[in-house]
Amino acid sequence: MQSCYNYAQTIIRQNVDDMMNIIVIFGLCFLKNESFLQRAIEEGADFIETDVLSSKDGVLICFHDVTLDDTTDIANHTGFANRKRTYEVQGINMTGFFPVDFTLKELKSLRVKQRYSFRDQQFNGKFQIITFEEFITIAQDAPRVVGIYPEIKNPVFINQQVKWSHGKRFEDKFVETLQKYGYKGSYLSKDWLRQPVFIQSFAPTSLVYISNKTDLPKIFLIDDVIVPTQDTNQSFWEITSDEYLDYIKQYVVGIGPWKDTVVPVVENYMTNPTNLVARAHAHNLQVHPYTYRNEFPFLHFNFSQDPYMEYDYWINKIGVDGLFTDFTGSLHRYQEWTSNHKDDDDKNLLHKIALLVSSYE
Ligand SMILES: *[C@@H]1O[C@H](CO)[C@@H](O)[C@H](O)[C@H]1NC(C)=O
Ligand SMILES: *[C@@H]1O[C@H](CO)[C@@H](O)[C@H](O)[C@H]1NC(C)=O
Ligand SMILES: *[C@@H]1O[C@H](CO)[C@@H](O)[C@H](O)[C@H]1NC(C)=O
Ligand SMILES: *[C@@H]1O[C@H](CO)[C@@H](O)[C@H](O)[C@H]1NC(C)=O
Ligand SMILES: *[C@@H]1O[C@H](CO)[C@@H](O)[C@H](O)[C@H]1NC(C)=O
Repeated sequence: MQSCYNYAQTIIRQNVDDMMNIIVIFGLCFLKNESFLQRAIEEGADFIETDVLSSKDGVLICFHDVTLDDTTDIANHTGFANRKRTYEVQGINMTGFFPVDFTLKELKSLRVKQRYSFRDQQFNGKFQIITFEEFITIAQDAPRVVGIYPEIKNPVFINQQVKWSHGKRFEDKFVETLQKYGYKGSYLSKDWLRQPVFIQSFAPTSLVYISNKTDLPKIFLIDDVIVPTQDTNQSFWEITSDEYLDYIKQYVVGIGPWKDTVVPVVENYMTNPTNLVARAHAHNLQVHPYTYRNEFPFLHFNFSQDPYMEYDYWINKIGVDGLFTDFTGSLHRYQEWTSNHKDDDDKNLLHKIALLVSSYE
């Protein structure tokens, strides 16, 4: 999933009993290493998100891109210069340095860096890639319940490149890792509430395959309209049809579409919303679009550069069940400022005003 750094995003789960109130914050516009994930947790994330890939020696790692080029200092490690490869990934020949050609030890010698020039660069070169297990530990060490939202990323490619013992697949290792750390149970079950997790993937066959291994809730990610599924080569139109939603709902609790396919955009202005959210809801599927960002290049003109307006639109007008944001703190503050305290609305408002005033004293 697109995220602002090479990994993490976070999710806020506002009220787990109310399906319409699950706010997925894919936060964290920085690095998905320990300190940044901890920062997202401090900013109010109830879930932290990561894409999961594999090293050459089969260790699951948290990393967004299929190559290391854009978000690590690999170019500065001249000893690795001969590792550059070209592989066909999801129908496209890509050239670069692929994590699947490096052992975990080698990957740990790299340092991550910011992708976007308009974001804070001061952390470049300071942090390592983390493993999926390290990521889980961060969530579990938090002082409150923090869920995780890991993605089975590029499973077709990973299974071609990495071989595990006993003929195990990437998906097997992924589920075994979750089970090792105690993740189990269906959506909203007691076990799930103790250690909440959503498993996400763009590959429907991976979601179907793991459904025999775990009843943990799964989310089917949906790419842009021009991108076919990596495993079944199905078009956007096919996988968003009523027939397909009817099929996939046996395996998943929701879908995660790219937001600009839900409300198409022309020249940075939003056009009319599609009926995807309504149709997903009619199939009892949640909708968690991705990825919301505060910055000018990502905020459509309709929102007057105001990310709160964007949240308000998607949560209250479009009625999404959750959303992924790169900016945990902003979504959390939006929620705090707009949360309904049905009993003492006025008192609460006065309290907020009093707080505001006192902060200027
Ligand atoms: C890589 O090396 C160049 C030249 O020595 C240096 O300017 C740059 O900061 C280094 N980049 C990283 C990410 O370490
Ligand atoms: C990728 O490159 C190989 C080798 O040059 C070629 O056979 C293949 O058709 C290319 N695939 C795509 C999708 O361009
Ligand atoms: C799941 O298990 C059932 C019953 O054992 C089997 O029929 C089915 O093929 C399995 N599905 C997958 C995707 O492995
Ligand atoms: C995927 O589907 C498209 C459209 O039906 C077709 O042109 C293409 O050859 C297919 N690709 C593969 C790898 O099967
Ligand atoms: C966004 O702004 C454009 C231009 O003013 C307008 O035509 C469009 O209806 C707006 N979209 C939404 C979803 O409000």
